[in-house]
Amino acid sequence: MTNKRVLSGMRPTGRLHLGHYFGALKNWAEIQNNYECFYMVADWHALTSNYADTSEIKENSIDMVIDWLTVGINPNKAVIFRQSEVKEHAELFLILSMISPLGWLQRCPTYKEQLKEIQSKDLNNYGFLGYPVLMAADILLYKAQNVPVGEDQLAHLEYSREITRRFNNFYGEVLLEPQALLTKTARVPGLDKRKMSKSYGNSILIAESEDEVVKKVKTMYTDPLRIKATDEGHPDGCVVFAFHELFNKDFEKRKQECKGGCIGCVKCKKELADLMCAFTKPFVEKRNELLKDKAAAEKILAEGGKKASAVAAETMKEIRKALHF
Ligand code: TRP
Repeated sequence: MTNKRVLSGMRPTGRLHLGHYFGALKNWAEIQNNYECFYMVADWHALTSNYADTSEIKENSIDMVIDWLTVGINPNKAVIFRQSEVKEHAELFLILSMISPLGWLQRCPTYKEQLKEIQSKDLNNYGFLGYPVLMAADILLYKAQNVPVGEDQLAHLEYSREITRRFNNFYGEVLLEPQALLTKTARVPGLDKRKMSKSYGNSILIAESEDEVVKKVKTMYTDPLRIKATDEGHPDGCVVFAFHELFNKDFEKRKQECKGGCIGCVKCKKELADLMCAFTKPFVEKRNELLKDKAAAEKILAEGGKKASAVAAETMKEIRKALHF
């Protein structure tokens, strides 16, 4: 084990899908063996856009942690905790807010994009603008050297680095500039070829039942240019093929078969569904096992919360001292 520390988090959106798995969790499960990892349920972050209805945050958090455990995130290796249980996140958020230039936040590409894209709720809020400030607090409290994030979060991480420099410039070298831990992750398309996302309703869960997998694979968009199975196929850009690349080790062969008109879409989908069911089945079983004892997940969060608090309290002590509080 190196002494390098990692922090990452996810907003509790409920049960997780294959996009979460291939985009983050698979990697989280691997790096817990080589780094000191802190994995956080970002439940306060869930408030930044879903402030009007908070009724599902708690349940969604537990559901998410159960999925983490399902894919092998191990509480004996990584600290699994809930942001809202470690109040230092709020304290550092407040301090960082004081030195956060509005321009930096308003220029953040994710901010501009979501403000424009999301019409269903009013995001003209101070907390939403401050999303990267809270995220910086999450990372800096643990002096994490590395933050495994997807590309969509790189702008937020850059913000953390910039605010660290500004903080250290004002108050002395207290905080550590974090680095992104970019590992190879796969982009997972949704059933409709857009990015897989709960809000698009195009996802397949990590612990999806066999019936659902079969049903969902059938709905995948297929090549409109192919009328007969013997017509030439177009695997590049085909969702079914994109999933073969993830689940079928002979995907190159499938590519040739498709191009050569040697296999029809129906059969190709059927084979994909079989491969995907074989993948999800152990997860379904593990999840069902874990669901029998939800209190155990709560206990893991409580214990993780204690470990995280101990680290956060130390850093906060240094920060208060640096600011003469
Ligand atoms: N913003 C991240 C996401 O939506 C979640 C998150 C919150 C996070 N705090 C973090 C990720 C700290 C990495 C580090 O995916």
